Amino acid sequence: MAASLRSARPHRDFLDIRDFTRDETLALFALAERMRTGTYRGTPMQGRALAMLFMKASTRTRVSFEVGAIQLGGSAHFLSPRDVQLGRGEPIADTARVLARYVHGIMIRTFAHADLVELAEHADVPVINGLTDLSHPCQVLADVLTIRQHLGADDPHPVAWIGDGNNMANAWIEAAALLGFPLRLACPDGFDPDATYLARAQGEGADVQLVRDPREAVRDARVVTTDVWASMGQEDEQLVRARAFAGYTVDEQLMAAAADDAIFLHCLPAHRGEEVTASVIDGPQSRVWDEAENRLHIQKAIMAVLIGDEPLLDD
Ligand code: CP
Ligand code: NVA
Repeated sequence: MAASLRSARPHRDFLDIRDFTRDETLALFALAERMRTGTYRGTPMQGRALAMLFMKASTRTRVSFEVGAIQLGGSAHFLSPRDVQLGRGEPIADTARVLARYVHGIMIRTFAHADLVELAEHADVPVINGLTDLSHPCQVLADVLTIRQHLGADDPHPVAWIGDGNNMANAWIEAAALLGFPLRLACPDGFDPDATYLARAQGEGADVQLVRDPREAVRDARVVTTDVWASMGQEDEQLVRARAFAGYTVDEQLMAAAADDAIFLHCLPAHRGEEVTASVIDGPQSRVWDEAENRLHIQKAIMAVLIGDEPLLDD
């Protein structure tokens, strides 16, 4: 990267929820809140560029990072496998080294989490996880920001995850362990979340439980959330999964079994009639549009801190 624009601080990555401490995460929420309400007007990415590597499709992640970088005074550069040599077999390490000579941060959405880690190891600039098969931390921070917006920031509101133990479920487990809210996951046998994440959270005493019955998971929950049954890269399993997830649709009956004031979240894109009914996602308890908007605010906070040198806590 151009030396004159090089940050004075050692660079940090955001590869997973635990890359920020609890206090740092709370400070990020406060900064994102200032982004959302418009009281933050800084442009800490002035003259700085974000490369966005997308090995999978995206609507929200792409547009929110791109617009966010521009609002912070910087630029964003969309790179798909069709456009860059990574798609023709150039090594990740070489791509990382080269991009870091041009840009000040890299966001990547890819398949194997190991590819994200390898990119971060070889890039001399901050790397941000825009989703891997293992984890989607930006989304879950946006989701917790949405919970704080609608239910308040003081209580550890119980969350119920219904459906696939996928990248979103894994990031929820990490967030529950870090931030201290109860999490019940109802997943069909054979579709559990990552065993390492679950064991680590439970080993630390986090209130995270895996159950099979969706009704058990939503009891007393103030947040009910789900995701597609076949994630990107699993399209061939769609039919098998639709059978395995029968009974795991979030419908009005399931919402009625949660707390009276429970809200519904979904990272989107959603398949109405599969993991959620139209009556729920388009109904009065749904907060999915604010949730999508909050991607912009939380990612601006993350970029301002990691790429723009915005202070976080005492640094
Ligand atoms: N929720 C989410 O990450 O959406 P996109 O796949 O559209 O980026
Ligand atoms: N679990 C989904 C999330 C999409 C934002 C997927 O990986 O496709």
